Amino acid sequence: MSDKGLFCGMNKPADASNMTETEKKHMPVIDCPDTVKAGEPFKVSINVGEIPHVMDEGHHIQWIDVYFKNNFFARVDLTPKFTRPEVTLTLARHSKHASSTLRVIERCNLHGQWEATKEITVTE
Ligand SMILES: [Fe+2]
Repeated sequence: MSDKGLFCGMNKPADASNMTETEKKHMPVIDCPDTVKAGEPFKVSINVGEIPHVMDEGHHIQWIDVYFKNNFFARVDLTPKFTRPEVTLTLARHSKHASSTLRVIERCNLHGQWEATKEITVTE
């Protein structure tokens, strides 16, 4: 992480192969196929994070957003105490582009926004 504040922009680990405990608790973990067929539904599971994040009233994940590149697909709003920051969505990619970047952004009320991405190949 850089020296900038956690609420300035998007947080990402400084070294993805050697994350700090804070980074491990906030980086979304994306589980989905590497290749999907255009128009066919597929499941995307998202966990925040590699070390489960707390969901206390004073410290919790507020929402999880899903984009393909800059196109918004879904938002899941979360409530402390009664939910866990783990979701599975069924998506379909209709684009004829050969590949697409799945972007998952979550927001922690104390540690700001964190983004993870995954390249997905879309076939006909
Ligand atoms: Fe946090």
